[in-house]
Amino acid sequence: MITNTELEQKGNLFPSKIINFSKDVDTLYFYTENDVVLQLTVLRDSVLRFRYTTTGNFENDFSYAITKYASTGYNHLEISENEKFYIVRTSKLICNISKENLKISIYDSLDGTLINEDELGFHWEESYHYGGNIVKMSKTINDKESYYGLGDKPEHLNLKGKRFENWVTDSYAFGKHTDPIYKAIPFYTGLHHNKSYGIFFDNSFRSYFDFGQERRHVTSFWAQGGEMNYYFIYGPKMNDVIESYTDLTGKPHQLPPLWALGFHQCKWSYYPESEVKEITSTFRKLQIPCDAIYLDIDYMDGFRCFTWNKEYFPDPKRMVAELAAEGFKTVAIIDPGIKIDKEYSVFKEALDNDYFCKRADGPYMKGKVWPGECYFPDFTKPEVRDWWSGLFKELIEDIGVKGVWNDMNEPAVMEVPNKTFPDDVRHDYDGNPCSHRKAHNIYGMQMARATYHGLKKFNYPKRPFVITRSAYSGTQRYTSTWTGDNVATWEHLNIANIQAQRMAMSGFSFVGSDIGGFAEQPQSELFTRWIQLGVFHPFCRVHSSGDHGNQEPWAFDEDVTNIVRKFIELRYQLLPYLYTAFWKLVEQGTPLLKSLVLFDQEDPQTHYRTDEFIYGNKILVCPVQEPNAKGRRMYIPRGKWYNFWTEEVVEGGKEKWVDAEIDSMPIFVKEGAIIPKYPIQQHVKEKQIDQVTLDVYYKEGKEQSELYDDAHDGYDYTKGRYSYRTFKLTGKSNELIIQQHKEGKYEAPYKTFKLILHGLPFSINEIQIDNEKIELSHLKENGTTVMTVDKNFSEIHLIGH
Ligand code: GLC
Repeated sequence: MITNTELEQKGNLFPSKIINFSKDVDTLYFYTENDVVLQLTVLRDSVLRFRYTTTGNFENDFSYAITKYASTGYNHLEISENEKFYIVRTSKLICNISKENLKISIYDSLDGTLINEDELGFHWEESYHYGGNIVKMSKTINDKESYYGLGDKPEHLNLKGKRFENWVTDSYAFGKHTDPIYKAIPFYTGLHHNKSYGIFFDNSFRSYFDFGQERRHVTSFWAQGGEMNYYFIYGPKMNDVIESYTDLTGKPHQLPPLWALGFHQCKWSYYPESEVKEITSTFRKLQIPCDAIYLDIDYMDGFRCFTWNKEYFPDPKRMVAELAAEGFKTVAIIDPGIKIDKEYSVFKEALDNDYFCKRADGPYMKGKVWPGECYFPDFTKPEVRDWWSGLFKELIEDIGVKGVWNDMNEPAVMEVPNKTFPDDVRHDYDGNPCSHRKAHNIYGMQMARATYHGLKKFNYPKRPFVITRSAYSGTQRYTSTWTGDNVATWEHLNIANIQAQRMAMSGFSFVGSDIGGFAEQPQSELFTRWIQLGVFHPFCRVHSSGDHGNQEPWAFDEDVTNIVRKFIELRYQLLPYLYTAFWKLVEQGTPLLKSLVLFDQEDPQTHYRTDEFIYGNKILVCPVQEPNAKGRRMYIPRGKWYNFWTEEVVEGGKEKWVDAEIDSMPIFVKEGAIIPKYPIQQHVKEKQIDQVTLDVYYKEGKEQSELYDDAHDGYDYTKGRYSYRTFKLTGKSNELIIQQHKEGKYEAPYKTFKLILHGLPFSINEIQIDNEKIELSHLKENGTTVMTVDKNFSEIHLIGH
C-alpha cells in the first residue's frame, strides 16, 4: 500500500482540507487550506465537470473539444453536508466530496451503487522541467471493471491492464502495440456491476492513462501541463455514456452527402489524367460500384498545396467534370506544410500576413515534408483558419473537387527524431497563446476544421466532405477519418476491425481503414477478407502506397474481382440502412458501429470480445481474420439471429462455428428487424430509386426498425424536408403485423416498398393492408414471400391458417 507520505516524497502534492465552499447556480467551489480549488459544475443530471487549480485561480476556460451546442440543464440539484462530506445530489447521481482531502466518490442515486471513487484523487507534481504542474488523478478499479474507448489505440478492445499515451503521431507501418499513433481522444468508459460511466479528460497536453497496469487496483490519468479538468458522464448504459460524450464534444454538423458513404478508390498516386480515367472507366466496365476517386500529392505542382501539376493534369476542371459525368466525385489531398517559395502565392500570402507558426525565439518554424522545407500555418488562430478556408474557392467552386483529404496534420515533420514541431513553437490557441506542448494534439483538428469551413462555403448548397488523419476529441463535428498508414498483414485486418469499433465508441464513427493495407502488398485472400470487413465500415476506401503493386478490385484474379463486386454491391444495397444509422448519429450521437459490449453490456461474455460487432443496430458481422479459413468461431449475442446467407435462425448467448468460404463472411440479422435496401447502383444517384426493398425478418414478439430518407445532399432536410419512418413489427404464431409511422415533409421519388418476408412460420391465408383485404396471388418470388405495398401504408396484417 503506497501512502500519501511516500508519494509526497516522490514529489506528489495533495489538496488539504476544505475550508470554504461557495455556489454559483450550477457551479460549486470548494476551497482548501493549501489554495487548491475544486470547481464542480453540474451540466446535466448525469454529467459532472471537475476542474482543479493549485494556485487559487483558474486559467481562462477554453476548449476546442466542447461544443457550444452541448445540452445543459438538470431536473434536480440538491447540496447538503455532513461531518465528513459535502453531498451533491442530482436525479441520477450522488457525489460525495470529502472535507478532509477533496476526494470524490460517485454513486447511482437510484440504487446507491458506487460507480467511481477517487483513490488518491487529484494530486500534482511541480515539474521544474516543464516549469509547471503535472496534473494527476487516480481512481480505484472496481470489482471486474473493464475499460473501453481512447480513440485509435491498436490494442485489445478492453483496455484493462494497459497504459496509453495521447500525443498524435505520424506512425507509418505502426503495429499492434504502437502507442501513441495518430489520434488523441482522452475519453474512456468504465463498466462494472452492469453499469457504465465515462471520463473525458479535456486536456490537450501530452497525457497518459493507466488502467491498472502500474497498480492492479488503480486507474489513473495525468498530463504534462494544463489543468486537471475532466467530465464524469454516467449511463448506466454504455450507449448513453457515448451519446452524452458525443453531445458534449459534438455530433457531425451535418449528414454526409450520400455518395460519401459509397465505395472510394485511392492510391498514392493515380497520375497522370489518363491513369485516373483508366481506373474510373475500369470500374464502370467491370460494373463495380464506386463513387469517389482520389488524387494524392502527385497532382500538385512540386507538392505545393492548391496548385496542379499541369503536365499530368493539363485541365483539372475539365477532368473533374468528365469524372463527375461518370458518377465519380474527385477528392484531393491537402497537407499543412507550405513550401518555402517566394514565387508561390499561398506561401507569400501567409508570409505577408504573418500566418505561419514561429519558434519561441522568433523565427518561423521550418520543417521538411513532401515539398522540402516548409512553413506551417497556425490553424489555432481564427484569422488563419478563415484565410485557409478561403483558399478552397478555386479547388471546390471553380474546379469542382467534392472532397478534401487532410493528411500529415499531426503535424508530421520528416527527418527529426520527434517527427513533429519542437515543443517551443508558439500558437495563438484562439487568443490563449501557448507552446506546441499544448497545441500539438489539436493542430490537425483545427486544420480539418478550417478545411471543413472552406468546403462548406464553396460547395454550398451541397454538403462538405473532409477526411483527416490527426484528431482530438470533437473533430467528429467536422470530418471523417481513416486509421493511417497500416500494413497489408492479417494482423492489421484485425487492428482495423478494432480501431473502427474503438473510434465509434470514442464518439468518432465516420471511420475506415486503408482497405488492403497501405504498406506492402496483400495476398488476394487478405484483400478479399479486408473488403468484406471494409464494406461494413462507415468510411469505405481502398488505399495503398502504390510501391508494391496495385490494389484495385481487379488487381488480383477474376474470382477476387467477383467477390469484391458482390460485397461492394451489398454496401450499396444497404445504403438506406447506413444512412438511417448516420442520421441517428447526427441527431443523437448513437455510434454507427457497436462492439458487443456496447450492444449488450449485461452479458459478461461480451466484455472481452473484439472481432464481432453490430453494424447500425440490427446487423451482426464478424470478419474472417485468418488465411485458409472456411469459417470461424464467433460469439452470437443474446437473442435470435438470422444467418444472412442461409436464413437459418440461431439462438445467441454462445460461441458458434459459422461457415464462411472465401466468397462469404459471417453476417446475421437480428430477428424482427426490417432492413431497407436500394437496388444496386454503380454510384449514388445513378438510378432514380423507384422502389425500396424491406427485408422483414419474422420474430415472435415485437421489434422496431427505422428508415430515414432525404434528398441525399444539400440542407433541405434541416428544414423538415426529410422522412423518418418507424416500422413496428409484432409477430404471433399465426400473424405478422407491421405498423408504420411517418414524420417529416420529404416525398421520396419511390412510391412502393417491396416486402420480402423471411422466416414466416405460417403460410399466409389473408392479407389486410390498412383494413382492406388484398388478393393473395403473386406472393412468391424464387421461393420467398414477396409483396409490393404503397410506401405510405399504416398497417399490414398477414394472417396464417
Ligand atoms: C501519408 C498518408 C498516406 C498518403 C501519403 C502520401 O503517408 O498517410 O495516406 O498516401 O502520405 O500523401
